[in-house]
Amino acid sequence: MLNCAVVADLIPQAAEVADVGSGAGLPGLTFAIARPDLRLTLIEPLERRCIWLNEVVDDLELENVTVFRSRAEQAIDHVNADVVTARAVSALGNLARLTMPLVHGHGEVLAIKGRSAAEEVQKASKVLRKLGADRTEVVIAGADILDEPTTVVRISIGRSS
Ligand SMILES: C[S@@+](CC[C@H](N)C(=O)[O-])C[C@H]1O[C@@H](n2cnc3c(N)ncnc32)[C@H](O)[C@@H]1O
Repeated sequence: MLNCAVVADLIPQAAEVADVGSGAGLPGLTFAIARPDLRLTLIEPLERRCIWLNEVVDDLELENVTVFRSRAEQAIDHVNADVVTARAVSALGNLARLTMPLVHGHGEVLAIKGRSAAEEVQKASKVLRKLGADRTEVVIAGADILDEPTTVVRISIGRSS
C-alpha cells in the first residue's frame, strides 16, 4: 500500500484523478486516504470488485471517491481527469490506449510499473506519440522512505496548451 501511496506526491493539489482498473483499490484508495484534496474516480468493470470498493469507501467514510463500473474505453464520455493512474492493468502500449483519452487532451498518466518500465516505454513509443504524448519519462517515488521505491511511467499530454 505504501508503494502506491507515495505516488500521490506526483499529483498536483486538488486534481481530478481517475484510477483505471482499481481492482481491490490500488492505487486509488491509497490516494483518497492520503490526499483528501483530490477527487478520485475508481474505474473498474467487475461488479464484485465495485461492491467491495463501495464497501471500503463507506467503511472509511471517504467523501472524495466515486466508484464507476465500466471499462476505461467506455468511460471517455463520463470521465474528464487531470491525472489518470493505473497499476497492474496492462502493458504500457495498451494501457496508454485505455488511459490517455480520459484526460481529453490535457493532463498526465501515472502508470505504476516495475523494473522493466524503461523497456516498456521504448516498446510503446510509437503508440504514445500517436496518442498525443508530449513527454514520457520514468520517475521514482518514495526513495526517501521506502527500501524499494516505486517506479512510475509519467506521460504528459498537452503540456504546451
Ligand atoms: C490485476 S488487476 C490490478 C488491480 C489493482 N490495480 C492492483 O494493482 O491491485 C487488473 C484490474 O484491471 C481491471 N481491468 C481490466 N481491463 C480493464 C479495462 N479495459 N478498463 C478498466 N479496468 C480494467 C480488471 O477488472 C482488474 O480489476
